[in-house]
Amino acid sequence: MSQTAPWWRDAVIYQVYIRSFADGNGDGVGDIAGIRSRLPYLKSLGVDAIWINPWYKSPMADHGYDVADYRAIDPVFGTPDEAEQLIEEAHRHGIRVIPDIVPNHTSDQHAWFQAALAAGPGSPERLRYVFRPGRGPDGAQPPNDWVSCFGGPAWTRLPDGEWYLHLFAPQQPDLNWQHPEVRGEFEDILRFWFSRGVDGFRIDVAHGLVKHPELPDLPPRTEPAVLGPLSRRDPAEHRCRQHVDHPHWDRDEVHEIYRTWRKVADEFPGDRCFVAEAWADTPERLAAYVRPDGLHTAFNFDFLMCGWDAKDLRAVIDDSLAMLGAVGAPATWVLSNHDVMRHVSRYGRRTVTRWTAGEPYVPDGPLDLDLGTRRARAAALLMLALPGGAYIYQGEELGLPEVENLPEAVLQDPIWERSGHTDRGRDGCRVPIPWSGRTAPYGFSPDHTSTAPWLPQPPDWADRTATAQTGNATSMLELYRTALHLRRDHPALGDGDMTWLETPDGVLTFARDPGFVCAVNLSTDPHPLPPHTTVLLSSAPVTDGLLPPDEAVWLEV
Ligand code: BGC
Repeated sequence: MSQTAPWWRDAVIYQVYIRSFADGNGDGVGDIAGIRSRLPYLKSLGVDAIWINPWYKSPMADHGYDVADYRAIDPVFGTPDEAEQLIEEAHRHGIRVIPDIVPNHTSDQHAWFQAALAAGPGSPERLRYVFRPGRGPDGAQPPNDWVSCFGGPAWTRLPDGEWYLHLFAPQQPDLNWQHPEVRGEFEDILRFWFSRGVDGFRIDVAHGLVKHPELPDLPPRTEPAVLGPLSRRDPAEHRCRQHVDHPHWDRDEVHEIYRTWRKVADEFPGDRCFVAEAWADTPERLAAYVRPDGLHTAFNFDFLMCGWDAKDLRAVIDDSLAMLGAVGAPATWVLSNHDVMRHVSRYGRRTVTRWTAGEPYVPDGPLDLDLGTRRARAAALLMLALPGGAYIYQGEELGLPEVENLPEAVLQDPIWERSGHTDRGRDGCRVPIPWSGRTAPYGFSPDHTSTAPWLPQPPDWADRTATAQTGNATSMLELYRTALHLRRDHPALGDGDMTWLETPDGVLTFARDPGFVCAVNLSTDPHPLPPHTTVLLSSAPVTDGLLPPDEAVWLEV
């Protein structure tokens, strides 16, 4: 990377799901004190920044994505002073800090929503949200047919007869972004945190803020599905994905909001940055979020949703680089996050099933943990060798699998209830991190804490703790650590270009200048390593000059 390029063009950003990262005060829930205590770990891992899931005051109907006060820290996570101390200490460790911002909706406990409820129909207070009368003679039908992402209708009726919109849980009323006060308030919130030293924001549901002014019914479902499955599909078909005009997702008008946000970020010294959680139909639509006067980067969910398939992955990589490159933005790569099944478990199925965004990932067949782990190791080397930035979801560096057998009684994700107990939701990827020791809570909470972690950890995680893996050259943790340090030092890695090299079907091989080649074998046969001088790093030992199936290698050439 050139010395003058902004840091976010090729940053490796570690996602801290705060509830589950580290518990400093022994109440079984992760907190800011816990993050502070683990900064040395993050530094030694070699990440450039942390993205912290919402830490604001919240009734926790959706674990913090229901914000009651955007300028306050929830007491379960700590205090505003601790947040400032964390930012300062992280900076001292050379780690930048990116909180989450949730602009699509507030909590129903937010002062604005409470005022709207109290003020009643027709009041100016209601204009900050999306209130409407119902349909039908007595208004008993919702205003339109929109559905909540968590299941059920996207509308809830109040005792006074009006309905309000919530694209997520009823405790998360959608804001009206046509309202100038909503816009002004969020610009102020950004300034509030920027002036406390944060380096950027991850923007929750960035594609959802603007709704069609007439709130029309949904368009008929078209095939291929709007955010259709990529895996197992012909890459050419993938390229043909169509943008469908949608009444509440990815509307063109949303970019005007982000042009203003960009100006707010630019008011502050240093390179502050935004990353969009934007689900778009096509790579072109995604690229629209990161034009030079808009946001800086966006998650590449096509990469995350892609199956373990060389052709599909290559198509996603090519399309991402082409479309983002066309607007001058860097690509980002991500394999897991707090909303999806962990990729060790996705890849640990003989068939890596199709995935449709907005629908639960349904694993196909029994889990082969060794297979999933082998592929996850290879995927990490692929992701970290590609041009641009990368996201690591806490615990993926420990090779954690999804916890698929959480007892129903402990499930907390609102999806479980909203789906009428048909979708277990996202708790399986949110189980607290194992740090040390042979039994739960594996150092997640301080020693001798009597309160159990908020989700139970599996009894067989002793060998997966950070301590158990440290210094073990074959562990996932040491693979990540070595890869991240090599990536930081190697002049070919990070931002820049790549060139595909000729390889047999099922093998992905690309070169980066100067002198670097990455090869990933997604086929079922071993393949000769490309010509090289040195093996820099491999996801498993390479012998006899052959790269075995489901393995990856970094070469000096
Ligand atoms: C977040 C989810 C959250 C939802 C509603 C997202 O896309 O990543 O965890 O439940 O927004 O805020």
